[in-house]
Amino acid sequence: MPAPFAHNAEYEFARILDFYGIDWQYEPRTFPLRWDRGHVTEAFSPDFYLPDLNMYVELTTLKANLTAEKNRKMRLLKEIYPGTNIIMLKKQDYLRLLAKYGYGPLTADQVPDIDRVLITTGRLQKRVAELGAQISHDYTGREVVMVGVLRGVLCFIADIMRQISVPTAIDLMAISSYDGNGSNAVRILKDLDENIKGRDVLLVEDIVDTGMTLNHIVEYLNTKKPASIKICALLDKRARRIVNVPVDYVGFEIPDEFVVGYGLDFNQRFRNLPFIAVLKHDLLP
Ligand code: IMP
Ligand code: MG
Repeated sequence: MPAPFAHNAEYEFARILDFYGIDWQYEPRTFPLRWDRGHVTEAFSPDFYLPDLNMYVELTTLKANLTAEKNRKMRLLKEIYPGTNIIMLKKQDYLRLLAKYGYGPLTADQVPDIDRVLITTGRLQKRVAELGAQISHDYTGREVVMVGVLRGVLCFIADIMRQISVPTAIDLMAISSYDGNGSNAVRILKDLDENIKGRDVLLVEDIVDTGMTLNHIVEYLNTKKPASIKICALLDKRARRIVNVPVDYVGFEIPDEFVVGYGLDFNQRFRNLPFIAVLKHDLLP
């Protein structure tokens, strides 16, 4: 058993938390429960504390007598330390808990394909709100036309548009994906519906990788003579940049790894994950 864990279930729970990118502390606090003439005679140290959820977790087995004893201690703890958030979890409850807090769970067939969660739901929501506030501030007194590029941008544009407080129009484009060897140019499969001439365009992208797609779209949009074009990308894989496109708003800079989830796909799979995850390397061509 790797230190500091006492039981295999604890080690396994820690690995699940690591997978989902949830911070944890192992037995960080002991709660005195009974005293006798100033000496602590009974105490309780919950197995885990999860700072993101402000929650203590006590893992338990199926042994009924142990569970009854733990229940008694937890009741006492809640009496003496009101406001302390503590739960008892059985192994089969792990994934249910994580689902409740928006960390998953992945469906059984998706788990083996994911290496790890890179950006949790909580971090995504927080950063999207920050970007929305910044954009609202920068466009004060103006109207913005948000142009999203399908399909990877779906989750991001749906979330960020609700964080923007200036008048906003939405339009969507679809383009043929770049085939990797540069032989076919980017083609427009679905054009703008809005007339953007003289308007302030905010191009919204899921991820900037080589920058070739974005560069092509910006050049195309410029032929429509907008008043301005700015770019907002959720993810930036800067290490792979070939064409230097100026990205005005970036959610997260990420390492050179293939990521899925929150709209991003691998062969049309994984778009529905509520977080950004790194795909296992051996799945990539
Ligand atoms: P670029 O032209 O190389 O910048 O490619 C950008 C496009 O490639 C994005 O809009 C995505 O559709 C796709 N892409 C690049 N990296 C990833 C990734 O890690 N996961 C999923 N799609 C990606
Ligand atoms: Mg895309």
